[in-house]
Formats: sequence, structure tokens, C-alpha cells
Amino acid sequence: MKRVAVLTSGGDAPGMNAAIRAAVRSGVDRGWEMFGVYHGYAGLISGNIRQMGARDVGGIIQQGGTILGSARSAEFRTEEGRVQALRSLYQIGVEALIVIGGNGSQAGAYALSQMDFPVVGIASTIDNDLYGSEMTIGVDTALNIALETIDRLEVNASSPQRAFLVEVMGRDCGYLALMSGIAGGAEMIVIPEIETDPEQVASSIRRAYERGKAHALAVVAEGAKYNATALVNYFEEHKERIGFQVRATQLGHVQRGGAPGAFDRILATRMGAAAIKYLEKGCHGALMGLNKGDITAVPYTEVVGNKKQIDLALLELAKVLEK
Ligand code: F6P
Repeated sequence: MKRVAVLTSGGDAPGMNAAIRAAVRSGVDRGWEMFGVYHGYAGLISGNIRQMGARDVGGIIQQGGTILGSARSAEFRTEEGRVQALRSLYQIGVEALIVIGGNGSQAGAYALSQMDFPVVGIASTIDNDLYGSEMTIGVDTALNIALETIDRLEVNASSPQRAFLVEVMGRDCGYLALMSGIAGGAEMIVIPEIETDPEQVASSIRRAYERGKAHALAVVAEGAKYNATALVNYFEEHKERIGFQVRATQLGHVQRGGAPGAFDRILATRMGAAAIKYLEKGCHGALMGLNKGDITAVPYTEVVGNKKQIDLALLELAKVLEK
């Protein structure tokens, strides 16, 4: 019999619940005792931990967010915080922890595993900026939400001399902007990885009109030097010369809400089950990631030591296709 706890941490992502469900039920199937930690690392420090059975995770696969709640804990970044977190686990005899989250959460998980506590990670963030997994839980759903907005705005953007900017999340990674821009047929994509001058955005919008395009829409990553707010300010300042109006829509947290799509539910289910299998083999200290179609274990040393890159060839492709 094993006692294993599950927590979700950082920004919630659609599909986290499917991962919790798969981990809890796969553990219960082996006769293990499963626990849920509420509100991420903050809940681990305060000992907000409850046992979970198969029924406690019923009816959640279709829900967005996380039933365990999430948090960003400053205390956990301190040595004392982490010691207290481990104390909470030892107190109820938990022998291993599954951490569902993105970069910050997995860095925290690595810190615990360096303190000799068995931890397994599950790659989950809408940003898709976590090394060790080609796709993370939540990305596909977030992309589809962004896409729905882009498609709708393209209808409004069809009136000439008016351009639309859609700002998507992603922190300092341009993945969501790049992929939603390609899928939505945007006239311009602005990402943090490539510095883009506002004049370049203006001329690409102008060229779209000159080519007789029905709409002019740019997808902008929140982490870009010129994000939607900065671009709107710039265009406002130079409106006489630039010659068209601009409207910006900031998608914000809307992208993180909503029901997970089939891809995220299945990915999360596979990762949750894989985490339990990995612990069963007596292994830990690794992230469950999607790599070449399989769920593989990527050692934490590799995950935290590397930065995931986006495929810039796709940005070049987008430039060809925006014609
Ligand atoms: O990491 C996920 C994410 O949604 C980022 O895209 C965004 O920059 C950030 O979290 C927002 O954080 P918060 O929900 O704490 O405002």
C-alpha cells in the first residue's frame, strides 16, 4: 500500500481535473491511498490535505479549472516553507507527491525531490513553455478559445480602415500567439521571441488593405515588447500618419476558463495514469511529458536546466500565408 498526494499549482489549465481524476483512480485501482492537496504549495505548507476516493473525482473530467484549487506561494520559495511542506506530508504518512503544473510548479517539485522526497510532475500550462513535453495540458483548449475570438473579430475587422489586435496570454512565450495566429489566418503575429517594431505592424495591416483583403487582424502575445496596449498607444500617437483606426481585445483569463476539449482530457488522463505507473515502478524525480506521441518520463535535471524553444520556421510560414 502506498500513500500518494496530488496537487495543482500555478495558473490553472483546462484538463487539470482530468489529470487529478486519472491519478486518483489509477492509484485507488492499485489499492493505494490517494490524497488531494488544496490550493497548491500554500495548502501543502498549511496541511490542507484530504483523502480522495474514486467518487471524489466523479463528474470532473468535463470541468475547467482545478477542483483542488491553485495558488502561487511565495512562502514555498523559501527553505523554511519547503521544510514545512514536507512536514505536512510526513505527518499523514504520504510517501510521494504528484505535481500538476507549469514551469514554476515543476521548479518547486524539483526542489522537493532534491530534499529526497519522491515527486513526479505532470506537464500542465496553457503557455506550452515547459521543457520536456511537446504539448502541455490546457494548450489545445486555450488555443481553441483564442481561435473562436479571432474568428469572430475577423467579421468586425472586415470594415476597411479599421484594424483589430487580439492579445493572447503566454507569459514570455509566443506559442499561443503563433499557433492561434496561424490557425486564425492573422495578417500579423507579434511574439516576444522576435522584437517587432510598431511600424512593421502598421505597414503589414496597410498592405493587407492594399491587397484587397477583407480584414486586417494582428495576434499579439502579452509578453511582446509591444503588446496590445503598447501598440494601441503608439497607433493613437501617430494616428494621422498611420491612417487607420485600431481596436484591441485582450483575451486574458478567458483563455484559461471553459471546459477542456477532447485532446486535453485525453492527454491529461494519459499523464495522470503514467505518473502512477512510474511511481509503481519505484521511480520518481521526473516530469511526465508528451514526446513523439508517447508519454515519457523526463528527468527533472533536464526539465529545469533547459528552455523550450518555439519553432520560428512557423512564423516564416505565417508570413507567406498572410499574403
Ligand atoms: O502561466 C499561465 C498564465 O495564464 C500566463 O499565460 C499568464 O501570463 C499568467 O498565467 C497570468 O497569471 P495570473 O493568473 O496569476 O494572473
